[in-house]
Amino acid sequence: MCITMPNERPDAQHFYEHEAITYDKRRWASCYGAKLDAIQRSIVRSLVGRCTGQTWLEVGVGTGRFTEELSDTGADVLGVDISLSMLKVARKRLTPYTSTRLLCSDASAIPLPDRSIEGAVSINVFSHLPKPYTVVIEIARVLRPHGVLVLNVPNLFSWFGPAALVVNWRNQSLGRQVYSHWYTLAETRSLLEGAGLTVRSLVGHVHVPTMLQHLLVADAIFWLDKHSRNAPLNKVAPVLFIKAEKVN
Ligand SMILES: C[S@@+](CC[C@H](N)C(=O)[O-])C[C@H]1O[C@@H](n2cnc3c(N)ncnc32)[C@H](O)[C@@H]1O
Repeated sequence: MCITMPNERPDAQHFYEHEAITYDKRRWASCYGAKLDAIQRSIVRSLVGRCTGQTWLEVGVGTGRFTEELSDTGADVLGVDISLSMLKVARKRLTPYTSTRLLCSDASAIPLPDRSIEGAVSINVFSHLPKPYTVVIEIARVLRPHGVLVLNVPNLFSWFGPAALVVNWRNQSLGRQVYSHWYTLAETRSLLEGAGLTVRSLVGHVHVPTMLQHLLVADAIFWLDKHSRNAPLNKVAPVLFIKAEKVN
């Protein structure tokens, strides 16, 4: 498995270079974290569907959680990420998957030909992109006609709205020194449609923030999460998982 370096050093790259060693442990190792990990994986699996024998791309592969899911279903996966340290952790996790490739690359310059893949996933990444439009255009370029993109965004009009407004005002995550932006559903739709992608499914997820995981409130949040997959609660859930299709 080869890893090559990109030219640019955006803010998220700096943050995740330092976060890589503790990324999985901090987010997914606790009892609640493991539950969250399983929920996110199952939502992505349900939106991706059958992809055996297909070529998929993961944008912002991080430590490889979703490339592992895609590879388990029999897809050939290319994972790209701006952070070499995250890719090193991913490489370890993905050692058993010999056809999986990892590449250090900015999401706005994906090293693939036009119309060359059946699908792409990008999970927990769009909130960190100062220029999301250039990335959606780039993903749409490499998708075949009727190819799909499964992504998620933090939802501005949600239970966590007040905190989200502060994040958008500061352009920075709460408690973390990294660029962050919460999207409205309308903003996300227009971002996707501007790149020739049409929204096909919308699934809500109530993320339990790490700082709340040790409190009793976490159980209530999981209850709310369970009821947020479909309408009407999906539109006010703090995380929107979206499946979009390239129309031609
Ligand atoms: C929150 S992590 C998500 C990792 C993985 N998708 C997951 O959910 O576990 C965000 C990832 O996006 C990557 N990333 C941020 N901006 C990027 C960019 N412009 N191009 C490629 N990767 C980027 C970061 O390096 C980091 O690994």
